Amino acid sequence: MIQALRGMKDIMPPESERFVYILDTAAKIARRYGYDYMETPLLEETALFKRSVGESSDIVGKEMYQFIDKGGHDVCLRPEGTAGIVRAFIQNRLDRKGGVHRFYYHGPMFRYERPQKGRLREFHQFGCESFGEGSVYEDFTIILMIKDIFDALGIGYSIKINSLGCPECMPGYRETLVTHLNDIRDGLCEDCQRRIETNPIRVLDCKNTHCQELLEHSPVIVENLCETCDSDFVRLTRMLDSHAIEYELDPKLVRGLDYYTRTAFEFVSSEIGAQSAIAGGGRYNRLVEFLGGKPTPAVGFALGIERIMELVKLPEKGREGIYLGVMEPEALDTVLKIAHEKRKSETVFVEYARRSLKAHLKAADRLGAKLCAVIGEDELKAGQIWVKDLETKEERRIAFDQFD
Ligand code: HAM
Repeated sequence: MIQALRGMKDIMPPESERFVYILDTAAKIARRYGYDYMETPLLEETALFKRSVGESSDIVGKEMYQFIDKGGHDVCLRPEGTAGIVRAFIQNRLDRKGGVHRFYYHGPMFRYERPQKGRLREFHQFGCESFGEGSVYEDFTIILMIKDIFDALGIGYSIKINSLGCPECMPGYRETLVTHLNDIRDGLCEDCQRRIETNPIRVLDCKNTHCQELLEHSPVIVENLCETCDSDFVRLTRMLDSHAIEYELDPKLVRGLDYYTRTAFEFVSSEIGAQSAIAGGGRYNRLVEFLGGKPTPAVGFALGIERIMELVKLPEKGREGIYLGVMEPEALDTVLKIAHEKRKSETVFVEYARRSLKAHLKAADRLGAKLCAVIGEDELKAGQIWVKDLETKEERRIAFDQFD
């Protein structure tokens, strides 16, 4: 039997209800914050991700579903959504228009990772990207929006924030860090040793406990920020404080994608095991320019739908909809007409086969219908339908045209 690929999952009912509920809730809130929907292709030129997510990142270095297409183009399935949105933003010349543009999106992302609980090779994100607003108030507002989404879904979380500086302060910090890392080089794992050259900031994020011990006294970015980055970061923390939003300053939060500048954040849950990040994002003021557009400040985030599905509880739902059945085959035509009318406003289940009343009631109950409506011989003659409310147990007979 052919099975789904490792790390890829079908989302079947009833779990799929949670999937849709998360998407609907997030989209409704994003629209309230002024975001419009954008859809971009799943397949993009590999160069797009190399340039944005970064060649030294694990995502690009190890995890891409990359291949040469029939036309000889080097393409890959998107490992994340931001790069495609930025490409579309530039390609559609919105960078030249000026002003603020806000987009939300959702869909599958692909990373050839080692599958484990909460870590898939095909997973789904919901994300938002805001272009043209350089103020740190926008960073704050985005964090507030994610909080609103998780609060609406009834999910617990904690927030980690950091600043990754800018081209003015980052190179200086990088140098200080590299000097320190070279001092402790021999004790670090192989990955870290390699990263000292390719991407020293990522060393801070190493999960190896021995490395973490050695890194305890490394210089931290937030103490090496330039004036503007520092004052933005202070302002962000003050705003979070004044809105009583709890957060943890995590100087080792560097994120797995290279495009971030200044604010970086993650929302984590303590209830889903090791893969605890349920949303992540930050500011990326250089990316639009780096991909060939006009310099445009930007900030965004994405949340992982499968991880959130583990946490979300659907609101209690009572019985819903109408079950329609026949005890006489001649009544089916009438039943189908009633079904079509009712479907304008309600969920309708129709059983085409002739069944006993008992069988119809049992089927209606199993489907969770509120009403079970059946036409038998007597009802057909009288132009009526027999209706039982499965909640109140009340039964009645009504004329076809009065069944509302
Ligand atoms: P990311 O942190 O790589 O950021 O992914 C965002 C979220 O996607 C994670 O917090 C997690 O919930 C989920 N996720 C990531 N990888 C997996 C996986 N293998 N299996 C299941 N869930 C996963 C980004 O992708 C950025 N594009 C976010 C962003 C938008 N930054 C600025 N704008």
